[in-house]
Order: sequence, then structure tokens, then C-alpha cells
Amino acid sequence: METPVIIPIHDPLITPLQSAEDAVAGSDVQLMDPAPDQRAALPDDWLDELASGLSEQGWMSLDVRSQLGANLLAALKQEVQILDRTDAMKKAGIGRGNDLVRDRSVRRDKIAWLQGVTAPQAALFEFFEMIRQGLNQRLFLGLKRFETHYATYHCGDFYKQHLDSFKGRASRVVSLVLYLNEDWQAADGGALQVFNRDNDLEVCGTVLPEAGRMALFMSEEIPHEVLPANRTRYSLACWFRQDEVPLPL
Ligand code: OGA
Ligand code: MN
Repeated sequence: METPVIIPIHDPLITPLQSAEDAVAGSDVQLMDPAPDQRAALPDDWLDELASGLSEQGWMSLDVRSQLGANLLAALKQEVQILDRTDAMKKAGIGRGNDLVRDRSVRRDKIAWLQGVTAPQAALFEFFEMIRQGLNQRLFLGLKRFETHYATYHCGDFYKQHLDSFKGRASRVVSLVLYLNEDWQAADGGALQVFNRDNDLEVCGTVLPEAGRMALFMSEEIPHEVLPANRTRYSLACWFRQDEVPLPL
């Protein structure tokens, strides 16, 4: 059983006794009508680029502001900020089920899973679904579904070097991270560091968590780390999975 979420009554956006999900749905998150071409299929050459980045380097970072639109990015940021304020974000663990370990020496972020029920989440899920199908068509990965959570790193929070999945589990295959922070400077910390897949001491890329920037990488291959953030860092992580339902660990 999920513990009920207590909504603080001093928050003017939220009616007490609603769930956090309702709070988001009922808040003044406004999605403008998408531009006519915005919901259209993602261009083939753009999906080709993603597929070749993943198959050749194993990872890439790119700007998806034009694919998602500024309104959607702003709406997603507003959602995660509300969830953060209402205590709906939970301390993240490592592993699943009974093996879930909340090791604060490894990761200190807080997370909330998305259900795709609010308008911004539904639009985002459409985007992820097009990526899932596009990658399957090009790389034959057999990606069956995706799972997505928001993450908040408060000042000093980090996530030490790790892989998102262990080889042979056929679980998380492709990882995607989308950042939601305006005007992120190098001095704000919180960069994603990507390491060489054959040498986890060699940094091969640094990605600042700026709004609209997306990182994409092979979950089982690419070691990565989130450096300590010096200001609140909002993001959203998505994993494309090969399994239909989670297997017990
Ligand atoms: C993760 C992760 C990277 C980031 O959630 O597993 O590695 O930049 N996130 O937020
Ligand atoms: Mn990770």
C-alpha cells in the first residue's frame, strides 16, 4: 500500500486532501495547443541520428527543444516542482522490491514515477513511444515498453558512477534523460558525466542539465555519474525495456 500523500495546506495551488497526481492535474499547468507539426511523427533522419549515436558511440546528447516545444518543457518543469513541494518525491533506491537499498552514499536524488495521465505527461509519452518504435525499426532492440520518473537533486545531491542495468537481464536497454532547468551554468554543478564503455576512468562526455537537453545511452554499457548539484536540478529519466513485465531480481 502506498502511504497517502499529505498536501500542505499553505500551498495556494493545491486543494488539501487531493492526491499529488490530482494536484498536478488540477493545478494551473497550461498546455498550449501544440503547433500543427509538433505532434506529427518524428522525422526519419532525426530517428536515424539517434539510432546511429546509440549503435556507434553507445551514447549521445542532443537538444530536443524543437521536438518537444517550450510549452511542454515548461509544463513538465512545473509538474516536478509541484511534486517536489508536496513531498510526493521519494528518496530513490538502488534495485527493486525487497532488494531496494536506499544507500545515501551512492545516490541522493528524489524521484516520482510518471503515469502519463496529465496532459504534459501524455504528450511526453507520445514522444517516447515514437522513439521506442523508431529505435526498434532501426536497431531491432525489441523494446517493449518504457518507464519514466521525475528526479530532483537538491543542493549537494549526486549519483555516483553506475550502470542502469546489468548485462543479460533484458530489462533496461536504452536510457534517456531529459533536463528541465533554465540557465544552468557549469558552476551550478550537477553535470552528467559519461564514461568510456571500455574504461570507466575515462570521461568521454559532460552534459549540463539545461532545459531541452537530452542524453541517450545504452543502459548496460555506459557508466555515468551525476556530479553534486549546487542548485536544485530537475530532470526526467526514461528507460526503454525489453521485458513485458518486470522480472523478480
Ligand atoms: C539515473 C541517472 C542521470 C541524470 O537516474 O539513473 O543516471 O543526469 N540520471 O540525471
Ligand atoms: Mn543512471
